[in-house]
Amino acid sequence: MQEAWWRGAAIYQVYLRSFADGNGDGLGDLAGLRGRLDYLSKLGIDAIWLNPWYPSPMSDGGYDVADYRSIEPIFGTLAEAEKLIQEAHERDIKIIIDVVPNHSSDQSAWFQEALAAGPGSPMRERFWFRSGHREGPPNDWQSIFGGPAWTQVPDGEWYLHLFAPEQPDFNWNSPAVREEFLDVLRFWLDRGVDGVRIDSAAVLIKDPDAEPDGLDPYTDRDGVHEIYREWRRVSDTYPGRFLIGEVWLPDQERFARYLRPDELHTAFNFDFLSCPWDPAALRRVIDDTLATHVPIGAPPTWVLSNHDVTRPVTRYGRPDTSFDHGDRKHGMTSDRELGVRRARAAALLAMALPGGVYVYQGEELGLPEVEDIPDALLQDPIWARSGHTDRGRDGCRVPLPWSGDAPPYGYGGEPWLPQPADWGPLTVEAQEADPSSMLNLYRTALRIRRESLGDGTLTWLPLGEEVLAFTRDSGLTCVVNLGREPVRLPEHQRIRLASDEVDGDLLPADTAVWLV
Ligand code: GLC
Repeated sequence: MQEAWWRGAAIYQVYLRSFADGNGDGLGDLAGLRGRLDYLSKLGIDAIWLNPWYPSPMSDGGYDVADYRSIEPIFGTLAEAEKLIQEAHERDIKIIIDVVPNHSSDQSAWFQEALAAGPGSPMRERFWFRSGHREGPPNDWQSIFGGPAWTQVPDGEWYLHLFAPEQPDFNWNSPAVREEFLDVLRFWLDRGVDGVRIDSAAVLIKDPDAEPDGLDPYTDRDGVHEIYREWRRVSDTYPGRFLIGEVWLPDQERFARYLRPDELHTAFNFDFLSCPWDPAALRRVIDDTLATHVPIGAPPTWVLSNHDVTRPVTRYGRPDTSFDHGDRKHGMTSDRELGVRRARAAALLAMALPGGVYVYQGEELGLPEVEDIPDALLQDPIWARSGHTDRGRDGCRVPLPWSGDAPPYGYGGEPWLPQPADWGPLTVEAQEADPSSMLNLYRTALRIRRESLGDGTLTWLPLGEEVLAFTRDSGLTCVVNLGREPVRLPEHQRIRLASDEVDGDLLPADTAVWLV
């Protein structure tokens, strides 16, 4: 039997609002994406994951969904989405959509109906409405974006929102909620989508009556698994489709439960994404990841960035190279040259490891985090909710530079977040012309990866504590030098790809090679 395509896929994440603007309003859209499919085809990816594309007031960049069966007019129409799916398939590119089951927008029909229906109505059972406690919220739960997790409505009741107040949480004890999402899944699978990314997948189950004091949203609850078993039963009726969970859980044993054979197919590897540029730490994360996935037969995934985290070239150039949502280290000095060097090596590492790999738009261009967006232009709700202490995630969401040497760099209209003035050398156009660019490194690596990497196993080579070296089933060997001194390469016929120049048989610091 042919191996399932998603097990070793290279998946490109499109943050639609910032990818390419087809109608000149400054916001990326489906027309812009459809116009750039050949770029993605040439990049050599297997699938595109799109962040939420549904009608949304954009209080949280589309993760506040007002209607799960339609397309945000800023992005286009349902007919255009169907065309995108078809045009991607014609190029052998699969489409993965984002489903947000933990919460909707406060503008969704269900939430508006619940508000209008008033206390005691069954409509309110679809969300978490409660009376207050001594004039205050029902309990002390805090929102992940900062501030209380409860907001009061005019009739006096309070509703729960783990994220922004514009994102009321669904009550997953409600049969109507469960039915609704099974139907939403079928709606999109019927339209040909190949995969579904599940937002905030671990936090769906909670009960303010049972756990009145304190809440750690990252503690998942057992009841969540029955939900994904039902989802799996639906997706299994559509051959070749897959479910990927956004599961941020420090406990590997609990994480693995999501990947049991009758639940999700894969999940993002956030331990790898958060890991500092340190050989022992990376080795530990890779070994733990394999130990978690191999026994249950689920392919690992390798992720260096996404729309929620600091861009790798900035992170890897800082004195502290780890990522942590609690402290984004905004404005910490970063050595750009070093960051780029390490990001190039990290890309070859991630792409050589067994399983699937995710590339967030702009990572292939080596875009840095934009850290000087003026306060007044910041849009991430984290900025306001944190009392203006955490600048949030806008810095990794700045629209892509395509061509030319000044904003908007061929992106379309005036970008909704300002692009830096010095991005001329980072445009697709400029990088295509430079054989040593990040873009050309990604293109070559993805091509080689298709032939000889992806799903499978690895064998570690003992090259010392500062070096990560392993051979893959195809015979390709990856060596990454994370130390300060050059190291001698193991015996090989030739170097197929190097993240930077190699000095004969000596691999310089912060450099990776693929050998045969
Ligand atoms: C996920 C998304 C993030 C969003 C949050 C709430 O973590 O990746 O962007 O803000 O869920 O939906």
